[in-house]
Amino acid sequence: MPSPEGRIARQPDGRITRGTTGLNRLRRSDRWSVHSPLVSAALRGPSPLAVDLGYGARPDTTLEWATRLRRVNPTVRVTGLEIDPDRVVPGRDGVEFARGGFELAGLRPNLVRAFNVLRQYDESEVADAWSTVLARLAPGGVFIEGTCDELGRRCCWLTLDAAPAGAEPAPRTLTLAWHPGYTDRPSDLAERLPKALIHHNVPGERIHTLLTLADRCWDEAAGYATYGNRVRWRAAAAALAERTAGAARAPRRPVRDNLLTVDWSLVAP
Ligand SMILES: C[S@@+](CC[C@H](N)C(=O)[O-])C[C@H]1O[C@@H](n2cnc3c(N)ncnc32)[C@H](O)[C@@H]1O
Repeated sequence: MPSPEGRIARQPDGRITRGTTGLNRLRRSDRWSVHSPLVSAALRGPSPLAVDLGYGARPDTTLEWATRLRRVNPTVRVTGLEIDPDRVVPGRDGVEFARGGFELAGLRPNLVRAFNVLRQYDESEVADAWSTVLARLAPGGVFIEGTCDELGRRCCWLTLDAAPAGAEPAPRTLTLAWHPGYTDRPSDLAERLPKALIHHNVPGERIHTLLTLADRCWDEAAGYATYGNRVRWRAAAAALAERTAGAARAPRRPVRDNLLTVDWSLVAP
């Protein structure tokens, strides 16, 4: 519809979906962000901009993310974008909220996060959504696109950055993060894989091969079970890193979550 100035008002790119969210639901990804060299590099410099795309029926996860990102760079500005105008709330605690879709409402952020957004789209829509977001990132910008369960105990996310001119967008990495006490085996994460992978977890596909290998390493580390699932996972992840020549890796430092990051080439459909 033409605006009063005679311009065609652009509709946000995407569609309204369920707004399910929860307090602290994205804490595993938030904690990872604080230690991620990729995120630190994206947020380097004065007043970088981080956009939380599709924050849902309540803005809690955006406010929590802002608190965590300020540990990376205290000058970071954070904006939550929602495609549903009824879910846009007044700014608070130094965080802005506005209506917007994959076109990012004309913003040019250094970091974008979209969690539990693309899971409600078709797989065929994913590449276009990635391209639209990546085209709007500031130079050196990073896009985190992920999925988790209702309580955030199992979480999976991709990192993407701008593809070379003419190339299809492709993620850099896939990270799996889970509560050590609520997951029996690494392959339990399969049900929370990002949309680009979830339908590919079948024999013959790389993601299935990775999860099968991760389970095998987990089984072989059973001797560490008496020390707890975190210690057991560290042993399993070390074996997995060896068997994938480092393409799958877990942090060496002690961490609260069980984490695994793999190069996209190891899981790409
Ligand atoms: C399931 S909620 C996720 C909330 C929060 N990110 C979380 O993980 O808890 C998904 C939200 O994304 C919004 N959404 C869907 N497509 C969008 C788009 N293209 N741009 C912005 N928001 C979008 C929906 O309206 C919905 O509120």
